[in-house]
Amino acid sequence: MNKMSFLSASLLLAFFILPFTSTFGEELKPIPLLKPQLDIGKPLMKVLSERSSSRSFSTERLPVQVLSNLLWAAFGVNRHGEGKRTAPSARNWQEIDIYVAMAEGLYLYDAKNHVLNPIILKDLRALTGKQDFVKDAPVNLIYVADFAKMGNASEEDKKLYSAADTGFISQNVYLFCSSEGLATVVRGSVDRETLAKAMKLRADQNIILVQTIGKPKK
Ligand SMILES: Cc1cc2nc3c(=O)[nH]c(=O)nc-3n(C[C@H](O)[C@H](O)[C@H](O)COP(=O)(O)O)c2cc1C
Repeated sequence: MNKMSFLSASLLLAFFILPFTSTFGEELKPIPLLKPQLDIGKPLMKVLSERSSSRSFSTERLPVQVLSNLLWAAFGVNRHGEGKRTAPSARNWQEIDIYVAMAEGLYLYDAKNHVLNPIILKDLRALTGKQDFVKDAPVNLIYVADFAKMGNASEEDKKLYSAADTGFISQNVYLFCSSEGLATVVRGSVDRETLAKAMKLRADQNIILVQTIGKPKK
């Protein structure tokens, strides 16, 4: 191989191939989620009586069934004909996207197909907040409002409604965690600019809140 073709091959590897692989041959694959288990859980009043924020997480990974139930509870499709979801959204814009930061990389929840699609093969958990536990907890959900989905609403309304819509999703996660004995805390303390850059978000995608989930630390 001459010097020029070696240089071109190195550039190709550095900019186009390596960003999608951690080691040769390895890539971030979609995670097909399992059917949500609709017959589990504690009675609602018990769930409410135990809902709380926790900042103490085990590093143990969550099983795919738990992740599947969690994401469906958060903002899954519960009426397939209409494509409507487990949380309400202003004018049914459904503008909140849930990104999932785990050790192996960043995924985006596709609610319609109930699958986690790979976005970035990199552990971004440490960037999801300013508190120590975020880098070790198995799951950090990043609630991103896609302002492009909010029609001609004013900037003020986009901010107001996307914050409200995030609150409903976050509370669904709180209730699911309370029901399943998982630890969770929703967080506003996050360097949004740095995280948005690492996630390669567009200018009209806005990080609203982040939420950590895991088994409680023993
Ligand atoms: C919008 C919002 C932002 C929050 N941001 C953080 C945060 O950055 N870090 C944190 O540890 N807790 C955060 N919390 C959790 C609150 O501190 C917690 O809900 C409050 O102390 C009440 O406790 P409880 O949830 O156990 O009832 C936030 C809660 C909300 C609703």
